[in-house]
Amino acid sequence: MIKSKKIISVVGARPQFIKLAPLSEKLSLYHEEIILHTGQHYDKQMSDSFFEDLKIKKPKYNLNIGSGNHGAQTGRMMEEIENILLKEKPDMIIVFGDTNSTLAGALAAAKLHIKVLHIEAGLRSYNRSMPEEINRIATDHVSDFLFAPTQTAMDILKKEGLADKSFLTGDIMIDTVNRNISFAEQKADPKLLSDIQGEFYLVTLHRPYNVDRPEVLSKIMETLAALDHDVIFPVHPRTRKMIAQFNIPSNHKIHLIDPCGYLDFLYLQSKSKKIITDSGGIQKEAYTLKKPCITLRPETEWVETVKEGWNLLMNPETDLDAQKIIDFIPRKEQSNIFGSEVTQSMVEIINSL
Ligand code: UD1
Ligand code: UDP
Repeated sequence: MIKSKKIISVVGARPQFIKLAPLSEKLSLYHEEIILHTGQHYDKQMSDSFFEDLKIKKPKYNLNIGSGNHGAQTGRMMEEIENILLKEKPDMIIVFGDTNSTLAGALAAAKLHIKVLHIEAGLRSYNRSMPEEINRIATDHVSDFLFAPTQTAMDILKKEGLADKSFLTGDIMIDTVNRNISFAEQKADPKLLSDIQGEFYLVTLHRPYNVDRPEVLSKIMETLAALDHDVIFPVHPRTRKMIAQFNIPSNHKIHLIDPCGYLDFLYLQSKSKKIITDSGGIQKEAYTLKKPCITLRPETEWVETVKEGWNLLMNPETDLDAQKIIDFIPRKEQSNIFGSEVTQSMVEIINSL
C-alpha cells in the first residue's frame, strides 16, 4: 500500500519546469502534489510557455518574486515559501537543480523540519564563483533525500558523507526529451528555419561570467561570426540586456531570436549541426540527441559527456577558437550516462519513503 503524501514541488526558473513536467504528472497519480512557482522567471517565453508546451498543471501558488540581487531574491522567496509551508503543512517538498529558487525552498522547509528531496543532487563544478555551486552545496547538505543523476554525482555525495540519503536515479531531463522529441518535430514553428540556408550552429549563453563582461561577450560573438555556417541564437533575457548595454554589434550570420518554447528549442537542437552553449541542461540534451556540443566554460559538472568525447570544453577567457569548433568531431559510441525511465524510478522511491 502506498501512503499518499502531500508534496510541494518548488520551481522558479526555466530548466526547473522541464525537470518538473514528467515528475508532476506521475506523482499526482499517487499523491497530492502542489506546484509552487517562485516567479524567478516570469516572461511568457521563460515561464508560461513551458507550462503550455509540457502540459504542466497550473501552479497553486505563484509568488511573483521576480529578479533581484542574490540575497534579496532568495530572502524574499524564503519568507513567502515559509508562509505557504506553514499553511499547507506538506509531508515533503521537492526542489530541482541549483537556482536561487532551489536554495530558498530547501532552506525554508529544512528550518520547519519538513522533509526536503533534492533532484539533481551531487553536482559540483568546484568553482565557487558560480552562484549555482553555493546553491548546490547548501541544498544537498540540508536535504533529507538526494536523487543523483549520474554515478559521478553519487560518488561526490558519498565523499561528502551523504551516501545514506542518496539514490542513483538517473537524469529526469532525459525523460522529458524522450517524451517530446517526436512531438517537437510535428509542433515546431516552421518559420524557425526560414532564414537559414543549409546547416547551422545553435547557440545559447546566460552564465554571468560569459555575458556580464563586455570583453568576454564581444570575443564570443566574434568567434561565432567566424564559423563556417549561420548561427541561430535564442537569447536569454539576461544576455539580451547585456548585448544592448555593451552595444555589441550585430552580424548577418548570427540570427538573434527570442528564447524559444521547449518544443521549438528541442526541434532546433535536433536539426542543428553542433550546439554551442554554457547551459547545464543543454549539454545533456545535446548528448542525448547525439549532437556535438561545445561548452563555453572552463569546467563542467557533466564530466562524463567530456570523457566520452561528445562535449568540448572551451574557456571563453583563454581558448576561444572558431576553427576548433569547426573541426570538433565526437567519437561515435555513447554509453548510458543518464539512465532511462528515470521518472518511474523516482516515483517508486518517493512512494516507498
Ligand atoms: C537563473 C539561475 C541559473 C539558471 C538560469 C536558467 C540563479 C542564481 N541563477 O539564471 O542557475 O541556469 O536561471 O535560465 O538562480 N530576466 C528577465 N525575464 C525573466 C527572467 C529574467 O528579463 O523572465 C532578466 C532580468 O534582467 C534578471 C536577469 O534576467 O535580472 C537574470 O535572471 P535571474 O533569474 O536572476 O538569473 P538567470 O541568469 O536567469
Ligand atoms: N531551452 C528552451 N528554450 C531556449 C533555451 C533553452 O526551451 O530558448 C531549454 C533547453 O532545452 C533546456 C533548458 O532550457 O532544457 C536549459 O535551461 P537553461 O539553459 O536556461 O538553464 P541551465 O540548464 O543552464 O540551468
